[in-house]
Amino acid sequence: MPAPTSLWFGGDYNPEQWPETVWAEDMRLMREAGVTLVTVGVFSWSLLEPEEGTYDFAWLDRVLDLLHRNGIGAALATPTASPPPWFTLAHPDAMPVTADGVRLTHGSRDTYDVCAPAYREACLRITRELARRYAHHPALVMWHVHNEYGTHTHSAHAARAFRDWLRDRHGTLEALNDAWTTAFWSQRYSAWEQVQPPRATQYLPNPAHLLDFRRFLADAMRAHYRAQRDVLRAANPAVPVTTNLAFGSWVPVNPWTWDGDLDLVAVDVYPDSTGAGAAHQHAFAADLARSWGGRRPWLLMEQATGHLGNRVRPKAPGEIIRHSLTHVARGSRGAMFFQWRASRGGAEQWHPAMLPHAGADSPVFSEVRELGALLGRLADVRDAEVVEDAAVVWDPECWWALQAPALPAPDLDYPAAVRQVHRALWRQGRTVAFASPHAPLPDLPLLVVPMLYVTSDATARALAAHVERGGVLVATYLSGTADEHARVRTGGYPGALRDLLGVRALQYHPLDAAEQVAVRAADGTDYGRARAWSEHLRVDDARVEASYVGGPLDGLPAITRADRGAGQAWYVSCDLDDAALGAVLARACAPRRPAPPPGVEVVRRTAGDESWVFVLNHAERAVSASELGLAEDGHDALRGTPAAGRRVAAGGCAAVRVPRRP
Ligand code: GLA
Repeated sequence: MPAPTSLWFGGDYNPEQWPETVWAEDMRLMREAGVTLVTVGVFSWSLLEPEEGTYDFAWLDRVLDLLHRNGIGAALATPTASPPPWFTLAHPDAMPVTADGVRLTHGSRDTYDVCAPAYREACLRITRELARRYAHHPALVMWHVHNEYGTHTHSAHAARAFRDWLRDRHGTLEALNDAWTTAFWSQRYSAWEQVQPPRATQYLPNPAHLLDFRRFLADAMRAHYRAQRDVLRAANPAVPVTTNLAFGSWVPVNPWTWDGDLDLVAVDVYPDSTGAGAAHQHAFAADLARSWGGRRPWLLMEQATGHLGNRVRPKAPGEIIRHSLTHVARGSRGAMFFQWRASRGGAEQWHPAMLPHAGADSPVFSEVRELGALLGRLADVRDAEVVEDAAVVWDPECWWALQAPALPAPDLDYPAAVRQVHRALWRQGRTVAFASPHAPLPDLPLLVVPMLYVTSDATARALAAHVERGGVLVATYLSGTADEHARVRTGGYPGALRDLLGVRALQYHPLDAAEQVAVRAADGTDYGRARAWSEHLRVDDARVEASYVGGPLDGLPAITRADRGAGQAWYVSCDLDDAALGAVLARACAPRRPAPPPGVEVVRRTAGDESWVFVLNHAERAVSASELGLAEDGHDALRGTPAAGRRVAAGGCAAVRVPRRP
């Protein structure tokens, strides 16, 4: 990928929603704000191809030429996330079908059946036209395929493709029957044609069936992306190709398997909380994005200038900048938004934008302008490596498995469990590398394995080898329980990790909201109270770090540690609060540096003989350089001032450039 000379800054640009007289103002304001890249054409299919096989590229020609004349690059999208109404009516079979058998139709967006031949062909046709026309346009910086892959379908097309996928994965029907435990409730299949997507059924569906269907959809999405990528690459191999990955419980995409398919990982980040919660979710998503791409360049493709939800609230002054800079600190090649100009009409007319309905004379646009100026001063950081301190295993398949109904508790929340571990490390000032359980594990002193319900034998072996080599591993409750077909491993939980952890859980003891059990170490260390989850644990070959106090498990082990080879393997059998979980992680592996003051985020990047220390002060008080242990000879690249003696104001930021030290 050709390296950009500066960081990317901009957002989705939808000029087709506006008369051309507005475009000139867009260009002027984009230049004023320092915009360098905009995403164009994401939802333009019905304008680009108003009738089947009839194209109108004139307006897009004018937009791209205008951008180029103004020195702004384009991430040109293929518009395939939203087929036009004529397509729907001509090919009703290419519309997605819900689990309840309802065939959806146009009227919103993302209404497509990724398995339907007519849809796939239409996507390739419009992609070929765009490639032919724009692959060498001087404004083109990257291709942006589709938008937020994620639409499920249970159609007849999906059923056929699912069967092919299952044949590949399981080989024989016997193997499938065994993997899915179809002996239960008379579900045994005697012919492939009997296998369906998990459509609505009378009572509880089969968890292995659900999990394989998610895996299948993930592969179908990737195949759809790859087909377009191949067309675009063939037209001009020098232009990078990506898609904006979304993060949500409905998303049937496993980004670990896309590594190599994306020239740079691009992500959309929309936290579902405000304040410190939002700041942390940005950091969490940024660490995921960097890790998905194997630490190669990545880009924050979308975020909002306001808080979303059923109340669209403005961000506090400084938050737009801090949220953007947490991504740059963690390796993003820039900061992009949805969208440039707030729409007047349409489904997202109330979505915040860089240029709000009020226009340029507004607090949002002032902060956008300031952000553009700050990013302009950070061009030198773009190739610097992010310094990582700890690894956390993240597995979308485990999330999908834990979305099955009828688990031992209704509130098992995999992403919340992983986020909590990340948050505890974030508060300690440690930067996290996420790891796939199916790839080589990062060589970092601490590896945390939260709630890894689905654990294959190969993953268990890799975790054991990591510890043998001297790593510290902390696994939390439910890890190791099931195999890759979501079948419980018998003989005691945590199943696949029993030997490594040296413990055996005889029974799970989920707790309800009113039950909390104290957890305390023999030396008096207080680990707070277990909430939501506890286990009846027996120690086979480990030491007890802390025990339950009170309740039916009184006196039994709650947290254990086992020496294995040169390393240690810890097990946390209960759901602890943030402070207690942080204390366990610090005890298992002490952080290299003292924690920053509460609410202050510190991230380091290095390049050659230089380091950059990003300080994002989410707290309500100023912090001094000395409180952060910042070097005397540092220089704040954001303000162009020496860092010594400086304070980072409440809500403010710094990017301190210092000579690299060991
Ligand atoms: C997604 C889409 C955008 C927009 C935003 C709204 O990220 O890609 O087109 O709809 O959500 O938050």
